[in-house]
Amino acid sequence: MSPQDVHFIDPAALACGAQLLSSGQAQACLLATADLDPAQFEAWLTLLDEHERQHAARFHQPRHRQDYIAAHALTRLLLSACCGAPAESLQFHRPPDEKPRLLGADAVLRFSLSHTDGMVACAVAHGQDIGLDVEAMIEADDVLDTAQAACTSAELALIEAAAPDARSSLFLRLWTLKEAFLKATGEGLSRPLDSFSVQFDPLAVILVGDHRPLTGWDFAQIFPSPRHILAVATRCAE
Ligand SMILES: CC(C)(COP(=O)(O)OP(=O)(O)OC[C@H]1O[C@@H](n2cnc3c(N)ncnc32)[C@H](O)[C@@H]1OP(=O)(O)O)[C@@H](O)C(=O)NCCC(=O)NCCS
Repeated sequence: MSPQDVHFIDPAALACGAQLLSSGQAQACLLATADLDPAQFEAWLTLLDEHERQHAARFHQPRHRQDYIAAHALTRLLLSACCGAPAESLQFHRPPDEKPRLLGADAVLRFSLSHTDGMVACAVAHGQDIGLDVEAMIEADDVLDTAQAACTSAELALIEAAAPDARSSLFLRLWTLKEAFLKATGEGLSRPLDSFSVQFDPLAVILVGDHRPLTGWDFAQIFPSPRHILAVATRCAE
């Protein structure tokens, strides 16, 4: 998947334009939520199932609740556009700490969703593992401490070599790519974050102990707003 495959989507366009994916294709979309009409979230709530509505109700902060609702509605709308079934009819299997998946005839469609402060995103692929992560940028004073817990020595060296005011965004670039990879494999945080390194130019993952990048994977990274970073990982060979 290249950065050109990540689209800002108008939800109204998604609701009416069927966009079937062929085998091996993937698409991602994202949506800024900060300036949306509150009535929009109530409308999207009607697309969600009981599990999602109960989960949404557990957020204390309205904006976190809205981001959750928007991410799940956007995912349903994108899946619906890919398979033709109504967004509200889609059913999911959600084992604890595992990658959720679509049930039924369209289970060949794989997806990944992410929500962070003010931005939500999802990606759908036909017959390929896909993972996506979006994060809001924060200037952290303790970025080196956080990086020590989440990065390999090679990644840490990259961050230490960067100018101090560039370290937080560099860490988030690495972090989103690492999370996108772990969400694509379905391992989540059950796989140690320091068991693989992210490499830039070209984007790739190298398992610790290996010298060459992992083959069969595609990565893309974009900056959808001045304060958000997004990464997508796709396994292109089974
Ligand atoms: C999957 C995981 C990586 C998600 O991380 P996250 O950044 O917190 O949340 P995101 O919004 O990007 O993604 C959440 C979605 O990932 C999906 N997901 C959950 N487990 C998953 C897994 N094992 N594999 C793939 N996707 C998974 C779900 O759809 C989930 O949506 P929901 O929670 O709204 O139902 C998770 O293992 C996790 O707990 N991460 C913690 C992140 C963290 O500690 N960050 C510190 C930054 S320094």
